[in-house]
Amino acid sequence: MSAAAEIANIGRRVTKGAEKWSRALPNFNAKTNTKRIVIDESHFKPMGTWSAEKIQQSRVENPHMQTWTPGSARHNLPVITHGEGSYLYDINGKQYLDWTSQAVCTNLGHDVPESVVQAASQQMRQLPFVYGGMGMTEVRTRLNQLMGEILPGDLRAGVFPCTGAEANEIGITMARRFTGKKKVISWYRSYHGGTAHASAATGDSRRWFAADEVPGFVKAFNPFPLFFNHAGENKQEQVESSLRMLEEQILNEGPDNIASIMTESIVGAGGVLIFPDGYMQGVRALCDKYGILMHIDEVMCGFGRTGTMFGFQNYEGVMPDIMTAAKGISSAVIPLSMTACTPEIMEHFENTSIGMGSTYQAHPVALACAYENLKYILDTDLIGHVEKMAPIFEYYMRRLAEDHPCIKQYRAIGIFGCFDVEEIEGTNPRLQHEAATEAFAKYAKSFSDNGLIGLHRFPHLHCAPPLNISEEDLVEGFNRLDRSLDTLDEAMGFTQKR
Ligand SMILES: Cc1ncc(COP(=O)(O)O)c(C=O)c1O
Repeated sequence: MSAAAEIANIGRRVTKGAEKWSRALPNFNAKTNTKRIVIDESHFKPMGTWSAEKIQQSRVENPHMQTWTPGSARHNLPVITHGEGSYLYDINGKQYLDWTSQAVCTNLGHDVPESVVQAASQQMRQLPFVYGGMGMTEVRTRLNQLMGEILPGDLRAGVFPCTGAEANEIGITMARRFTGKKKVISWYRSYHGGTAHASAATGDSRRWFAADEVPGFVKAFNPFPLFFNHAGENKQEQVESSLRMLEEQILNEGPDNIASIMTESIVGAGGVLIFPDGYMQGVRALCDKYGILMHIDEVMCGFGRTGTMFGFQNYEGVMPDIMTAAKGISSAVIPLSMTACTPEIMEHFENTSIGMGSTYQAHPVALACAYENLKYILDTDLIGHVEKMAPIFEYYMRRLAEDHPCIKQYRAIGIFGCFDVEEIEGTNPRLQHEAATEAFAKYAKSFSDNGLIGLHRFPHLHCAPPLNISEEDLVEGFNRLDRSLDTLDEAMGFTQKR
C-alpha cells in the first residue's frame, strides 16, 4: 500500500486543543480535478446593484471571519452602502454618524477629496506599481520632501509600509539594529498593532492572543495605572514618582540591554490618556541618560487628531528618535503607514539594511493618495478647524460627564475624547478584557438605534468623529450620545440624571 493510501486508510490526525480527532482526506484531488469554474452571473452587475436579500443570502452562504471578535459577530454588522460627510448609510437607508471615525482613521469623513481620487487614478494609469527595491518614483520623492517639510525637527520619513503595526515592526527592528540592544519597554495601557512584535509591545490584552511569549519586551506602568495612584500629593509628585519607578525598572532591566522606550503620544485605544506635564519630558531625559531611543507611536494621533500635526507636539521640548504613523496619513482611503527617524538613524542604515521589508512598501498609488491627502489637510487648514472645534468638543464631554451618573470622568484633547464608566457601587474602571456586561450590550444597541456607529471599548467610551466635522454635526453626535447614555445609566441601575 502506498504511503498516501495508508494515510488515507487511517485518516489524518489533526490536533484541536487538547483533543485528537481524525479527519478523512479531502475527497477530491486539486491537481487532477477538472471541475470548470462557474461563477454567479451577478458578479457582472455593477457594484451597488445587489439587493439586500441577495447580499444577505450570499453572506450566509459564504461566511467570512472577523479578527478581534468571534466570527459570529458578523451577523450583527450592518451592510454599509455609502457615506457622506461624517455620516454612513446602511442598505436599509439608516443613517449613522461616525462617532469614532471608524478605527480613528477616516479623519476626513466619507467624502474623498477630488484631488485624492484624481491622483490615485492618474497614478494607476501612469505607473501603478514599482517595487520599492527596484525603482524610484517621482511620487515617492515628492512625498518624502513634503514629509520632511511637515515633520518637526530633523525627523525624516524613512519607509512607507502599509499598516500601523508594520510601521512599528520596522521602528522596533530599526531601534534594535541601530543600538545593538534588544529590549523594548512599553506600557501596560497601550496598543501598538497586531503583528508579532507590535503586539508584543502592546500592553492591553490583545497581546495575549499571539505575542505574549515573544522575548525582548518589558511592560511598565505609565502614570495611569488602573487600581492605584502613584505616590505623591499632587500631579507633579505623582509624575516624579512614576518616573522614578521607570528609572528603577530601566536599571533592573539593564540600560545596556534596552533599545527603545515605545509610547503612544496620547494613549488612544487605552482611553485617550494625555500624559501629565513633565512625564514625556522625563521619559525623554531617561532615554538620553541611558542611551535608549524614544519611539513615539503616532498611528492614532498623527495628522491632526489632537489639534497639533502630531500628538507629541503637545509636550514642550519632546522629540522622538523614531516616530511611526498611519491612519491619518491617507485618511484611510488606502492602507499606508510611515516610519520616520532622525538623520543619525537614517545614516546608520546607509551601509546596512534595516532587516525588514514588504512587497508593498512605498506603493506608488498609496503614496499618491497620501501626498494629495496631506496637501488637502494643509490647504484646508484642518488643524485650525480641530483647534476651533476643540473647546466645543470639550464642553460637551464635560456636560455629558456631569449629567450622567454612570460616567466617572473624561479626558479630551482636540477632537479626541474618552469617558470612563463606573458601576453603581463606584467600582471601576475595570480592565478592558473583562466581559462586557448586559448593561453595555443595551448601551451598544441604543448607540446604534440612536444613529451612531463606532468602536466600543467598554468601560471606556471613545469619542473621535472625523476631524472635518461641522459644529452642527458635532452637537448632533453628542445629542445622540446623550440619549444612548440615558440607556446606559438606566441599565447600570442609576435611576436619575445628576
Ligand atoms: C497607537 C496605535 N498603534 C498602532 C496601531 C496599529 O495600526 P494598524 O491597525 O494599522 O496595524 C493602532 C491601531 O489602532 C494604534 O492605535
